Amino acid sequence: MTATTDSTIELTLLQPDDWHIHLRDGAALSTTVRHAAASFNRVICMPNLVPPVKNIVDARSYRERILQHLQACDLSPERKVAFDPRMTLYLTDHTTVQDIEAAAQSGIVQAVKLYPAGATTNSADGVTDINACVDVFEAMEKHDLPLLLHGEVTHDHVDIFDREKRFLDEVLAQIIVKFPTMKIVVEHITTSDAADFVLAQGNQVAATITPQHLMFNRNHLLVGGIKPHFYCLPILKRASHQKVLLDVATSGNPKFFMGTDSAPHPIDAKESACGCAGCYSAAAALPLYATAFDSVGKIDKLEGFASRFGAQFYGLPVNQSTITLVNTPMQVPTHYPYFDGRKLTPLMAGETLPWSIKSQ
Ligand code: DOR
Ligand code: ZN
Repeated sequence: MTATTDSTIELTLLQPDDWHIHLRDGAALSTTVRHAAASFNRVICMPNLVPPVKNIVDARSYRERILQHLQACDLSPERKVAFDPRMTLYLTDHTTVQDIEAAAQSGIVQAVKLYPAGATTNSADGVTDINACVDVFEAMEKHDLPLLLHGEVTHDHVDIFDREKRFLDEVLAQIIVKFPTMKIVVEHITTSDAADFVLAQGNQVAATITPQHLMFNRNHLLVGGIKPHFYCLPILKRASHQKVLLDVATSGNPKFFMGTDSAPHPIDAKESACGCAGCYSAAAALPLYATAFDSVGKIDKLEGFASRFGAQFYGLPVNQSTITLVNTPMQVPTHYPYFDGRKLTPLMAGETLPWSIKSQ
């Protein structure tokens, strides 16, 4: 951190990576790729497209589409060269060991994503019986391909606020016993139970945390009217959980790292009688995390969380370029243009954040 002469404070970090992002496909990429590539070098692209990214052929062509949009962006040549979309395969009941082997050898697939069927947006093709994945998990363990988890059970009778804990206790604990060296990321954790669970495991188990789960709790979603732009899955939990997430994220423990889960849905799909789950944070992600870390006096811990621990977990080098945050307030736009004349409302739309990215 450098304090400059006046009251300006600058914080230069190694370039961050986003280990969990939804870029979507087609015309949506014109918005999402530009926002992601402006800040991040590597991004792990979620595979919940329609139809999903199920094998290496799908992954290659999706990556090509992302890169085509990158070329059309108004970003510097340096940013374009640095941006590296890392792909994921969507695990289904029909994923084969050959799919895993091909992914492991591809050089572009970073991990395999498990959505329990019906857990969230575009998860209908997800896994219905985890016991049927034994061969695939064995292959992932053998080839060191991490498993990324949307860690929620989906049974109708389980309360939505309990779904993450039930997944950890009833599903994940058994997976870890059976596949003790498989790398696992419990994504977008939302509870103290999840933080404790991850802390209790070996170094092969880590977690990502989103900006919304660090900055907000279920009161923000529900008190004084339903705020659909805070609705995401797993759903925001009570304030005591939010506090623990902030504690572990800012603790310097490398098991916890950045994964925005930035998930675009057009305004009309969010502000609806049946609104979609997802918060769009890609464009302001770093100022959002900086605000959260600063709120507990831990901005010095941001670089590890944003730029080092994820790369370490995946066995990748940390980035060499840097990005500078400055304590000049940033006004989050009320919306961004999206495709087909639609608009996208970001997390904290219209609000002012105390940190912004210094233009280079
Ligand atoms: O809130 C969410 N939105 N959670 C997810 O797991 C999926 C994501 C999306 O794809 O919109
Ligand atoms: Zn996600």
